[in-house]
Amino acid sequence: MWKLGQFNIEGKVVLAPMAGITSAGYRKYLNTFGVDVCVSEMVSDMGLIYQNKETESYVTYEKDETLTGVQLFGAKPENIAKAAAVSLTLNPCIDFFDVNMGCPVPKVTKTGAGSALMLNPTLCGEIIKAIKSVTDKPVTAKIRLGYNEVNFLDVIKELENSGVDAIAIHARTRKELYMGEPHFDLLKDLRSKMKVPLIVSGNIYTLDDAINALEITGADAVMVARGGMGNPFLIKQIKTYFETGERLPNPSFEEQCNYCLELAKSMCEEKGELTAMRIYRGIAPKFFSGFANSRTLRTILATSLTDYQSLVRILDEFKKENIKF
Ligand SMILES: Cc1cc2nc3c(=O)[nH]c(=O)nc-3n(C[C@H](O)[C@H](O)[C@H](O)COP(=O)(O)O)c2cc1C
Repeated sequence: MWKLGQFNIEGKVVLAPMAGITSAGYRKYLNTFGVDVCVSEMVSDMGLIYQNKETESYVTYEKDETLTGVQLFGAKPENIAKAAAVSLTLNPCIDFFDVNMGCPVPKVTKTGAGSALMLNPTLCGEIIKAIKSVTDKPVTAKIRLGYNEVNFLDVIKELENSGVDAIAIHARTRKELYMGEPHFDLLKDLRSKMKVPLIVSGNIYTLDDAINALEITGADAVMVARGGMGNPFLIKQIKTYFETGERLPNPSFEEQCNYCLELAKSMCEEKGELTAMRIYRGIAPKFFSGFANSRTLRTILATSLTDYQSLVRILDEFKKENIKF
């Protein structure tokens, strides 16, 4: 068990924030597989301050049984703190705040936000203090190994001294974006050097990836990001293993079809069918990798989805043709 502020967390699975993916509908469905803590997509502090309606929609989700945090991004402590206060007036159900200190996208870093914050560890700490001055909710930070230079230990020290409640680290630098192997070797035994809980992120695609990352780093939890897109059952595999030691087998093609349809339904309910299914062209094909002969299916899903019924039809056709996967 580990603690996120006043909350006791039993398991080891955190659902990562992913802009454009981890909307309330996505989280709601993936949470049913046993997520312990989840985080919203990143939310602009200035968007909240200027009352941008789309930005506001990211924080006005319904209460979920799973502990849910809002991830804010920005460059100035006073603005991020103001945005935290605004989001609580819009949605008092927010369980905690997370600060994005890892985003590598130039549109974000050129404003001084995201991973650019890691160039100034003191500022990272000031942001945590500023949010803490407007709310009693726990405040976490999500960092990388560094911007260009690896400096996560300096950043962690500042964050801890500023009262951060937990830290998630993506084991790549800003330069590495999302590519290549994450450097868990650089995080060896990191948890033993820290005062607050540690969550690790980077290429968690299988149960063994999770076991390995936790073993090397001593972290309290792993973050499931791209590995959960199209494979929500991974969450259950990790959860079950750490509860009982049992290794659940990978889902069958039939089961993947069901998961794919259920997630689509959850996203349609949230966003409306047309928007949800447009986004789903990027998600649905991921349910069918690793099955023999599923390349055609992936291509069709990526190009032909229009509405929910089209998804049902495509999957039915593949099943009816008795294509054995
Ligand atoms: C499409 C996409 C969007 C992402 N958006 C965010 C974000 O909004 N905030 C954040 O802190 N990290 C974001 N990330 C990073 C992930 O949370 C995670 O740390 C990263 O993908 C590494 O994990 P993985 O290799 O298992 O995917 C994003 C990643 C992807 C692929």
